Formats: sequence, C-alpha cells, structure tokens
Amino acid sequence: MYKIPANTLFMGKQLVYVPECHSTNDEVQRLMQQKGSAEGMVVITANQTAGRGQRGSAWITEPGKNLTLSIGLKPNFLTPNFQFYLSMVVSLGLHDCLTRLVPGAALHIKWPNDFMVNDKKVCGILIENQLVGQRIERSVVGIGLNVNQQFFAWPHATSISLETARLYELNEVLSMLLESIEARYLQLKANEYGNIKIMYEHKLYGLNVLREFTVDQQTKAGIIKGVTDEGKLKVLIEDELHYFAFKEISYAY
Ligand code: BTN
Repeated sequence: MYKIPANTLFMGKQLVYVPECHSTNDEVQRLMQQKGSAEGMVVITANQTAGRGQRGSAWITEPGKNLTLSIGLKPNFLTPNFQFYLSMVVSLGLHDCLTRLVPGAALHIKWPNDFMVNDKKVCGILIENQLVGQRIERSVVGIGLNVNQQFFAWPHATSISLETARLYELNEVLSMLLESIEARYLQLKANEYGNIKIMYEHKLYGLNVLREFTVDQQTKAGIIKGVTDEGKLKVLIEDELHYFAFKEISYAY
C-alpha cells in the first residue's frame, strides 16, 4: 500500500501498512520484540480504533485522511536522563518537514508533545520508552499528523491542507517526514546535544512571551524561558524561575 521513495538510511526501510489497528504504537511495540526487527521500522495505518494521546487521552482522527504511524527506534546510545532529547529531535524533524510543506507559516513546538502551525495543533507525538538499566533499549515514536482532514470538532486543531488550501499525497508527506526525522536523529547520535537544544528552544511556542498557565489548579502568568536537559519547562513567574515536569503545568488556551 505504502511504496515510499524516502531517501533514508534506515527510517522506514521496514514499513508495515495495516488498514486498521488499535494503536500503531502497540503494533511497533509488538513487532520490536520479534527477532530481526530493524531500527527505523514503521507501522502505519489508515484507521486507528484505540489511538492513544498524552495524559491518557484518546487520539481520534478521520480514517484515511492523515498520517497515523509509529517508528521503532533503538537509541541505546542514550542514557535515560537524556531521553527528552528524543522528543526534541522528533519535534525538530517535524519542524523541518513542515517548513517544506507549509512555507511561510508560523511553526512552533508546543512543549512537550504538540506541533503548532499558525497557532493551531497540527500534530501530536506520543513517545514510549523501554528502559533497561541505564540504557534506552527501545523507543516507540507515535505520530499523528493531520494532513488532509478538513473539519475538526476542536477549534484549536488544523491540518496541513487547511493551512495551504490544497490536498497532499500521504506517501509524499510520509517520505519527507521520515527523511527529516532521520536527519535529526542522526544529529543526536552524533552527540550534537548543544545544537539540538538551542534549535528546539528557538522554536518553542510562547518563548519569551507573557501568557497564562494552569499550575496546581491556579492560573499563573509566566514567561517560557526554555527547557532543561531532562525536559522540564523553565517558566519565569513573578521574577523567579520555576521548573515544571510534564503534567505539572498546562497552557490556558
Ligand atoms: C497527543 O497529542 O496527545 C499525542 C497523540 C499521538 C497520536 C499518535 S497516532 C499514532 C500513534 N499511535 C497512538 O496510539 N498514538 C500515537
């Protein structure tokens, strides 16, 4: 079904298309436990019936219109305290891909796992790592990228098509996406931690802008200043820098 011309070394070389599944993350998880599973393996589906999102939410998308896929990685060069760098390189890969597809748009990474085009969510990422001792043995990178969907119940969502007023071949978008993520992943493998963090922070949604957040069920005004290596969000609140882990803070839309 998916014959992709991706110009990659390993990302997507092993590609499994399933017309329908519960969650591509679960499929990759299962396949990676089998012998001979290759790094960069991709499972992609047209219809996910129990897609998972962040914070226990469901990921629901119109069948056949978007990219719903998971990539299996073996980042055993990465220690668990640097696992957020995986999220950084996947987000940067998305950024590079969307720069080609939606030139001139405002592209931002909304910490920790969303990607925004012109202030609306176009993509969600769900990364599930399996740690063995001090190493990340396996990582499943789940990506839901809205490509051709025209209508969303949620007013803060969009698709590439809605932003550009044209339709896309999913194959072509997939190839670009895999090429972009592979290039960024290889930067991580080459230990370019400093550059990756600088580039990631530069693309952060709301960087250096005063906005409202919800912390401990209270609304606070703060300014995002960056992230830590561990993936905590640095926010300046009343002249003091605070560090928030995932789930400790949310954006008040
Ligand atoms: C979020 O924004 O909450 C993250 C959404 C991640 C959705 C993708 S779709 C492919 C993969 N399989 C899943 O079950 N979830 C991820």
